Amino acid sequence: MDWGLKNRIASIIKPTNNRGVMLAIDHGYFLGPTEKLEVPKRTISPLLKYCDSLMVTRGIVRTSVDPNFPVPIVLRVSGGSSIIGEDLSNEKITTSVKDAVRINASALAMSIFVGAKYEHNSLVSLGNLVNEAEEYGLPVLAVTAVGKELAKRDARYLSLSCRIAAEFGAHIVKTYYCDNFEKVVNSCPVPVIIAGGPKIPERDALALTYNGIKAGAAGVDMGRNIWQSQYPIPMIRAVRAIVHSNYNLNQAYELFKKLCKEYPVRNNPQNFPGRLPQNQQRPQQNQPKPQQNQQRPPQKPQQPKPQQNQPRPPQNSSQSHSKTNNVHHKSHNSQSHNRTNQDLHKNSSQSHSKTNNVHHKRHSNQNHNNSLSQNHRNQNQKNNQSQLRQKHNKFLQLFCFDYGTLERWM
Ligand code: R5P
Repeated sequence: MDWGLKNRIASIIKPTNNRGVMLAIDHGYFLGPTEKLEVPKRTISPLLKYCDSLMVTRGIVRTSVDPNFPVPIVLRVSGGSSIIGEDLSNEKITTSVKDAVRINASALAMSIFVGAKYEHNSLVSLGNLVNEAEEYGLPVLAVTAVGKELAKRDARYLSLSCRIAAEFGAHIVKTYYCDNFEKVVNSCPVPVIIAGGPKIPERDALALTYNGIKAGAAGVDMGRNIWQSQYPIPMIRAVRAIVHSNYNLNQAYELFKKLCKEYPVRNNPQNFPGRLPQNQQRPQQNQPKPQQNQQRPPQKPQQPKPQQNQPRPPQNSSQSHSKTNNVHHKSHNSQSHNRTNQDLHKNSSQSHSKTNNVHHKRHSNQNHNNSLSQNHRNQNQKNNQSQLRQKHNKFLQLFCFDYGTLERWM
């Protein structure tokens, strides 16, 4: 193997233990301002010194990564579709190898879409990218496991995708963890690293890391489960301890809890509410909504709002998450109920004082018509939203997005 190629791979997958921690922050290339990555520089800077490499697009490298900091760059060079477009598998190479060399990238990254509509294009692009990149001694990371088969996310599909990526010449392959992951690793002749996927409780993300490494993964290419955590630095350090120091799950989680006491919770958490646990997901579109004219139950006195800036206790994160969300949810509901009742009251007394009887009749007819057309409009809006949601639910399954990001488009 060419010296430059070897040397660059060694900066990503450390030759001392054949493992690496890659921090993924390329999500904006089709998701725009992903939750907690709204201001990339703010998210990236504190984490840089804990990762072995950074997976990023050229736009974010140029604007948000300090060129004086010696972190190897894994440059995403594919794209061309967005979350609101027709088909996310319709990607092409969007950044030239020449530009990657200018950026001093240590590797190039692109997605392949095995089983999807544009499978052929993405695989041919991978072959062509490897041809060109190898001329410059640049390794290629293939991002697999997106496509119509991903909903299954089983070892059969993931080994198929990873193996095809390696056959086309990818030097490293990124995929998702699944049961029987050994099968994926053993049938892929190049290092396999795992993505984290949507945000899950910290202990679960550490378990995923631990299981992946135990099954033979060469490391992680992890994003949301690090920087969407309330404790990004403790999280990346705990992940690192599993990858590089052979920590088991309990040791890593203990380290995480210990570090949580040393690092302040992310500023301004009200801007970053995080994900609701599975059983408290935001209401589904086809769940029955309460009737507008239904009598509301008497309201409880409003509870004082919990202090947003208080650090959460670094204990069992899934418990604390769900408790906090409960409180938040309840207080939000009662606030909005109170507000609606006040508004209703205000509106009705205003209209009473302004009108006489005749006027009142005409007015109420108008109101009736207005409310009919308003209902009509609401219904149309609901139908549109439901169509859009159905379409994006498909993406949610296929590409492991989270509702936080999707709902901005609903
Ligand atoms: C997805 O296509 C992006 O390349 C991400 O880098 C990848 O999904 C890894 O990030 P996460 O751990 O958030 O899934």
